Amino acid sequence: MSTQKNTYILGIESSCDDTSAAVFYNDQVLSNIVATQEVHKEYGGVVPELASRAHQQHIVPVVDQALKKANITKNDLSAIAYTRGPGLMGSLLVGSSFAKSLSLALEIPLIEVNHMQAHLLVHFINDTNSKSPKFPFLGVTISGGHTQIVKVKGYFEMEVIGETLDDSIGEAFDKCGKMLNLSYPAGPEIDKHSKLGDPQKFEFAKPNVKGLDFSFSGLKTSVLYYLQKQTRQNPNFIEENINDLCASFQRKVVDILISKLEKAVKETGIKEIAIGGGVSANSGIREALIEKKQTNQWNVFIPKFEYCTDNAAMIGIVGYLKFKENRFTDLSTASKARYAL
Ligand code: KG4
Ligand code: ZN
Repeated sequence: MSTQKNTYILGIESSCDDTSAAVFYNDQVLSNIVATQEVHKEYGGVVPELASRAHQQHIVPVVDQALKKANITKNDLSAIAYTRGPGLMGSLLVGSSFAKSLSLALEIPLIEVNHMQAHLLVHFINDTNSKSPKFPFLGVTISGGHTQIVKVKGYFEMEVIGETLDDSIGEAFDKCGKMLNLSYPAGPEIDKHSKLGDPQKFEFAKPNVKGLDFSFSGLKTSVLYYLQKQTRQNPNFIEENINDLCASFQRKVVDILISKLEKAVKETGIKEIAIGGGVSANSGIREALIEKKQTNQWNVFIPKFEYCTDNAAMIGIVGYLKFKENRFTDLSTASKARYAL
């Protein structure tokens, strides 16, 4: 254990299309600045080369802003934590090179962070009124890149017990949203329209996948075929039914997720559930989980909205947890596009 009590950690996240920097005072967030890249919108998905270039442009001002908002200078920092992976290699390299250079210049430790672990460890950020899950808990990472159910036995002891066999849950939202002519990323758009629609109006296919694994490609195809058939008869079908289509699709996704979680709880006997990742911002998923909590079935932990989508606070908290255990890394550590838990 580190003997230093008052630590300031800078967290840097650059795995996909958000450039973010956060400053922590021990386990408390002092700042969490996120620059979202708008450039990808017109392409309907993240363009890796454009993402790397945008990270290059954003990283210095974002870190500057995070330090200013935290009211400290870089000389006050105790360590620098950065995302090692998984993610887009070109994007990861911008964050890791920056973090390595700064740690070298300031002569302070460097801490590498697994982005997927970080999505779950946001539950250990010390915010007012926030409670943390107890080990072991079931971590549910639902994002644009992943869909996993994880048995979390300790901060750095995680075991994947279920995952998607094809598309991630975020991809399901984004790809179906594209079919519905919604802009990228379509998850939040679908969520917005769902609130105005009838979730029972349309019935899409629920995949039949064994065990705790997921599949979303069948649902996507079911939506595609249904839309093709209907728009042949009425070219305005999507426009006229957008709210009901979104609500029905979202209901199905929530249903798929909750039934797998019910199965996971039954198999493991663990009723402590903590979600993380961009899709945990979804209101349908939140409502379904809150209902489980209110009916005393599960003890549910839902992160604050700003800690759901990619952000550097999630990297900063892991930085702090690793700093306490002297889990440092060195300059030779390579970024990893794929990085197991
Ligand atoms: O965690 P994240 O920011 O990036 C990855 O690591 O992938 O997740 C991004 C994903 C996108 O697919 C986006 O559409 C989805 O999260 N998302 C949502 C919502 N907000 C973001 N999906 C459904 N409902 C939302 N409210
Ligand atoms: Zn993420």
